[in-house]
Amino acid sequence: KEKIIIDADVGIDDAMAILLAHASPELETLGITTTFGNATIENSTRNALYLTQRLGVTTPVIPGARKPLVLPEGPPTDFVHGGNGLGNVEFKLSDVQKPKALTAAQFIIEQSHRHPGEITLVPVGRMTNLALALALDPTLPQRIKRVVMMGGAFTVPGNVTPVAEANIIGDPDAADIVFGAGWPVVAIGLDVTTQVVISPKHLAAITKANPVTGEFLTAISDFYLAFYRSTGVTEGFFLHDPAAVLYLTHPELFTLTSGPVRVATQGIATGQTIAAPQSQWARDGDWQDVPHSQYAVAVDHKKAVKIFNQRM
Ligand code: BDR
Ligand code: CA
Repeated sequence: KEKIIIDADVGIDDAMAILLAHASPELETLGITTTFGNATIENSTRNALYLTQRLGVTTPVIPGARKPLVLPEGPPTDFVHGGNGLGNVEFKLSDVQKPKALTAAQFIIEQSHRHPGEITLVPVGRMTNLALALALDPTLPQRIKRVVMMGGAFTVPGNVTPVAEANIIGDPDAADIVFGAGWPVVAIGLDVTTQVVISPKHLAAITKANPVTGEFLTAISDFYLAFYRSTGVTEGFFLHDPAAVLYLTHPELFTLTSGPVRVATQGIATGQTIAAPQSQWARDGDWQDVPHSQYAVAVDHKKAVKIFNQRM
């Protein structure tokens, strides 16, 4: 099994990614580290804990960053994920887990010593926790197998600004550090995630086959569906974060390109993921010695949706 740590700003599609990883026999989730973004760090952590309580996800939950490295803290994207991050579905949290004494960054480092070379980090929110871990221990990349993130918009417009995707613009400095750290990076960005669409019909089919998970997915998706409808997407909602998990279990569904990637950290292009696949640019100071990352440019979305539905 591939050992993974999911680093998430637990909102609606993050919850779906966590559930998908849990339902994937190819993967072993060592921990869920949480971050701000779709919700506050408190709600993001609470939502992750709720998944362990209600849906039997048996992994530790470790709270992480509450704000970006450099930029001032932005408000949570509650207009997409609801005030609590899970579509305003109310729930009570029982005492499922004792809080860990570690921070998310410390947990990542600790696990990397326990399983050197074996762990895939799966950030599906702001990259702040990974950047903090790198600051604490610059040798971390030597013990990490790879980073597979949901983030970026390489060949398509962004979803926050014309050029920026939410996970990247939410902490562009952290994202630039992660792309430049020297560990293998695969970015599953909007180029492909906006093609992986789940409809209410799919949710109904999941509920029929597996009422426990299906009813939960349906409940948290109401708010999400309404947001998408308000933006003109009528067929359903995008499976952004689950797409990164699907890349881990079914890489053959994705087409990747590679090249040095940097992130704009200032000005109107803040949060843009810029790839420089042509070698002449690599002579430029800002691009010199930038490690090559891989980023997805195409996906077999029909198969991706089918696998998600089957596994749920
Ligand atoms: C990303 O932003 C968040 O809203 C989603 O959870 C996903 O990780 C998509 O841009
Ligand atoms: Ca997310």
